[in-house]
Amino acid sequence: MQYQRVPRQTYLVIILVILWVVGWSSWNGFGPNINETLLRDTIDTIASNGLKEAGFVFVNLDDGWQRYPGNRLDNPLEADPVKFPSGIKALADYAHSKGLKLGIYSGPGQTTCAGYTGSQGHEEEDARMFASWGIDHLKYDSCCAYQFAPKSVVQQVVLTMSQSLLASGRPIVFHACHCGWADSWEWAAQYGANQWRIGQDISDDFDYPGNRMKYFFDVLDLLDRGNSLAQFAGPGHWNDYDMLIIGLNGKSQHVGAGCSNVEYRTHFSMWAMVASPLLIGSDVRTLNADSMETLTNPEIIAISQDPLGQAAVTVGVGDQDGGNLQVYAKQMEDGSYAVALLNRGGVTADMSISVERDLTEAWDQYTVRDVWKHETTGPYDKPYMVEVIGHEAKILRLYQVIPNATMPLP
Ligand code: GLA
Repeated sequence: MQYQRVPRQTYLVIILVILWVVGWSSWNGFGPNINETLLRDTIDTIASNGLKEAGFVFVNLDDGWQRYPGNRLDNPLEADPVKFPSGIKALADYAHSKGLKLGIYSGPGQTTCAGYTGSQGHEEEDARMFASWGIDHLKYDSCCAYQFAPKSVVQQVVLTMSQSLLASGRPIVFHACHCGWADSWEWAAQYGANQWRIGQDISDDFDYPGNRMKYFFDVLDLLDRGNSLAQFAGPGHWNDYDMLIIGLNGKSQHVGAGCSNVEYRTHFSMWAMVASPLLIGSDVRTLNADSMETLTNPEIIAISQDPLGQAAVTVGVGDQDGGNLQVYAKQMEDGSYAVALLNRGGVTADMSISVERDLTEAWDQYTVRDVWKHETTGPYDKPYMVEVIGHEAKILRLYQVIPNATMPLP
């Protein structure tokens, strides 16, 4: 069976409106226990504590905003009037009044993953309703209802909602969430999606083998899963590594013992390197100073939002010390490279980056910006060496020094 693809021009209208998905999502911190007060508090906090200025603009309701559990055949899709007494439009208006955007959640089944009414058979009507509320982002989750469906069926349900959103006339960023199954990355952009998950739900762990092969993926699992998928990412269509775990501190609705500050910083840095959407999954009202410093580093956000939209991959020998030491790199629009020296193991190690070996560049000299130290050093004409502690990623920007050019240091 042949499916009609989203016309390229219309698709571009959406991606030009918003290229990056950076904000907050309710699920990992709150599960279905969401309500108007929490959302208004979250909007107020993001708008006033520096997160909005750093780029976090989406405030996304996940599953649990709906009134009815059970099949759509038996129930309409409405906001729960107890949880959201003023309705979703009022919430969207409130987010917009603070310079933020509001996202919502549904799915193509009779029910969603948490068992609330889905959009099956009502896609156009629901897209129109979301647009009339002023919704800016839709997470459309086929993980559960279509988990074992053939790829062609998943493609069809994604396409149906994608076309319904376009027909609604409102630019709504479209997350086709399918938990890393059905090779979404290979086709989802052509079916109108702006992001798609590359794996199952993230646990609040950096490296916890206990959860391997079960449903949940830790930070290293997701990085390993995504390393071969970089080619599918680009401006307006992203590999989604799942929500950020920074600030959960072991209080995820899922599983996970929590991470150290170094591990959370590495996780955030690596999600920026691989150009994943950056959606905070914790309670922004209680973020501590370390978490805020991590989330608002403008140099990391700049790596995430580089206009070239490249996703970093492991480069060069990449695999020093039996696979524990990895070098990730991506080219940036200004000709520099963003580089991560990732120490996956628990023991401090010396790591190096060679522009010739790892970036295949014939630069005579280059400078190095350490974006966590906020310090530029060099010029260097040999590989750059640095000590990286266990579970740390040194995040660097490498700039070629062009002889006789008056190139200001960044
Ligand atoms: C799935 C998704 C999660 C979340 C829940 C909601 O598990 O992967 O991110 O949206 O559904 O029920």
